[in-house]
Amino acid sequence: MLEKFKVRVQRQDGPATKPYTQTFELPYKPDMNVISVLQEIAAHPVTADGQHTTPVVWDSNCLEEVCGACSMVINGFVRQACSALVDELLRAGPVIDLKPMSKFPVIRDLFTDRSRMFDALKKVRAWIPVDSYAPLGPGPIVPPEVNERRYELSRCMTCGCCLEACPQINPHSDFIGPQVIGQVVLFNMHPTGAMTASYRNEAMMGPGGITGCGNAENCVKVCPKDVPLTWAIGKLGRDTTTHAFKRWLMR
Ligand code: SF4
Ligand code: SF4
Ligand code: FES
Repeated sequence: MLEKFKVRVQRQDGPATKPYTQTFELPYKPDMNVISVLQEIAAHPVTADGQHTTPVVWDSNCLEEVCGACSMVINGFVRQACSALVDELLRAGPVIDLKPMSKFPVIRDLFTDRSRMFDALKKVRAWIPVDSYAPLGPGPIVPPEVNERRYELSRCMTCGCCLEACPQINPHSDFIGPQVIGQVVLFNMHPTGAMTASYRNEAMMGPGGITGCGNAENCVKVCPKDVPLTWAIGKLGRDTTTHAFKRWLMR
């Protein structure tokens, strides 16, 4: 029967400071998740070798894998801390390894700044414009297969796992990332959103847009919400080609 386990945490005191590692030893309790591990450390911030330290900082909100805020690299795999169960992690070995996502600036410890994804959503106007709040009657009928696809795309929680796994997100590339591609397709497929599809397509045809994708397909493999990212990348690639052709014809 396991009585104690270790947690190795990559820590960083601020955005501009160097990372370092601290190991903590915790008493085993059944049914813990990584958030409850971090709460235990916050209540008793002492390392395994007896050094008093500051509580580890992390971000979280919903605690049920809906908001994406607690995304971090756990035992080498990017995922949400709230749904990472300690019993499962310990089957792989007696130490749990926690690191912040590497493709986003670290604010402190495991807390990263995911603004680049929210800025990307603003850049492509990932919303449905309305010009009135008066009742306008029922909207156009949407075929069930379109609704089904849109539902799959709408499950994105802007967690950042797909950007973390994407080799094209690196300091030498301005690629905007796969998450926003899914959302462009989601809003372009909406009957009202389609009226502003050309704006989104133009934004995705510019620098850092769709052509930055190298088709490695890492993104779809790590998405915790099974967002059909490679399907969206293929669709947007075709749609932007058609858009470019029409633009050329209308010159
Ligand atoms: S597409 Fe999936 S992995 Fe990417 S941000 Fe959305 S939910 Fe997270
Ligand atoms: S297909 Fe590959 S290169 Fe394109 S967004 Fe996904 S992980 Fe990145
Ligand atoms: S706290 Fe919201 S996904 Fe984990």
